[in-house]
Amino acid sequence: MEKIIINGGKPLYGTIEVGGMKNSSLPILFGTILVSGDCVIENLPPIDDVFAALSILKAMGAKVRMLDSTTVEINTDNIVCGSAPYEQARHMRGSYYIAGAELGRFGRTHVALPGGCDFGQRPIDQHVKGFEKLGADVHVENGYINAESSGVLTGASVYMDVVSVGATINIILAAVLADGVTVIDNAAREPHIVDLANFLNACGADIAGAGTDVIRIKGVSGLKGVNYGVIPDMIEAGTYMIAAAATGGKLTVANVIPKHLESVTAKLLEMGAVVEENDTSVVVSAPYPLKPVNVKTQPYPGFPTDMNPQMCVLLCLADGVSMMREGVWDNRFRYVKELVRMGADITVEPKVAIVRGKTPFKGASVKAVDLRAGAAVVIAGLAAEGTTEIGDIYHIERGYENIVEKLRAVGADIEKRIVNEPAQSNVI
Ligand code: EPU
Repeated sequence: MEKIIINGGKPLYGTIEVGGMKNSSLPILFGTILVSGDCVIENLPPIDDVFAALSILKAMGAKVRMLDSTTVEINTDNIVCGSAPYEQARHMRGSYYIAGAELGRFGRTHVALPGGCDFGQRPIDQHVKGFEKLGADVHVENGYINAESSGVLTGASVYMDVVSVGATINIILAAVLADGVTVIDNAAREPHIVDLANFLNACGADIAGAGTDVIRIKGVSGLKGVNYGVIPDMIEAGTYMIAAAATGGKLTVANVIPKHLESVTAKLLEMGAVVEENDTSVVVSAPYPLKPVNVKTQPYPGFPTDMNPQMCVLLCLADGVSMMREGVWDNRFRYVKELVRMGADITVEPKVAIVRGKTPFKGASVKAVDLRAGAAVVIAGLAAEGTTEIGDIYHIERGYENIVEKLRAVGADIEKRIVNEPAQSNVI
């Protein structure tokens, strides 16, 4: 089994370059289904979720050509509707954007229900509601999302009962080529939604209001291929900001949009860390001791749920009691038991973790239970005394580009190694 091995206790110093954002790369890649001609997408993160998305597009009949490690040329002119391979699509979350994109282009869809990290229930009722409002007849059955329409969808008003990134994106994808105007009320405001809208508008779409909670999409008759660069990944950036503070080092986190990091920066400042903002970088250092704070995760521009586990590691290092309240997912605290193995003192009530610092983390054998949980145990390992062995690192590799190499370059003692697990005994 491949593991990440960290000998902790070394402060990080230097510069880390952040890659393109995973959560806008996926809708943009599947958004090319709506576009005629060649699209060149730049600043893609070379991560497993992106490779999986490209592999699905290829299997559907798209021409996919890597121009370099972060740039791809895609032509979806000849793709076949409903042909996304079930096994590949069911292993990632972003594959449900095929549903919106196929509906937008073909007026029908047939795609596996998505997978992704396990945070308890991950319903898709708001996606279904949006597709139905636009005139599709939707059935979720036998592991598939199936939808049919008269051929072309019709613009409509959609009020979202919950703020959902995925449903907002899927409704945009379904609506750009629809007849008439679609208005999404109570839309998600994440930067990746603005990024997708900018890409589609560059291709000829007419989308206004992305980044606010009311998005208006006027259907157009077609989209043409463009060159487009994905924005930097604010969660990757936030993860390295916290790694700097947790190890008591000083990191320049470069190629970022500081505005997207404001909620993380605000909490770091409240804890006593030093954060200097430049045009496209932030410099983070944290002279100890860190102060305890309370955090609540919320949709953007609130503190991101995808930074909950990493931030919780920093709360463990603060001198006092902090609270991490989860405001998005039902069950985001599966990582806590891994941190407890490393010495953390955390009690979880259904949606709140009560974190008693100041933890002297000790290296242990732990697992990445999901993507951001994996980032959290990496940070805890960097801050810990002794050796930490992290298993199930495929979760981390779905979303972090070259995390081992990037951290090693700023002074971490970290490597990836094949570790043979001892055979399981049958004796109970
Ligand atoms: N929800 C519903 N009904 C729906 C859709 C969502 O009730 O139809 C609820 C969810 O149960 C949740 C809340 O709405 O309580 C927010 O879910 P959302 O739809 O916004 O999440 P998502 O689109 O499935 C994306 C990211 C996640 C990130 C969330 C929240 C992708 C591929 N995934 O998921 O990212 O946690 O938004 O920001 O974009 C990650 O990158 O590690 C990750 C898990």
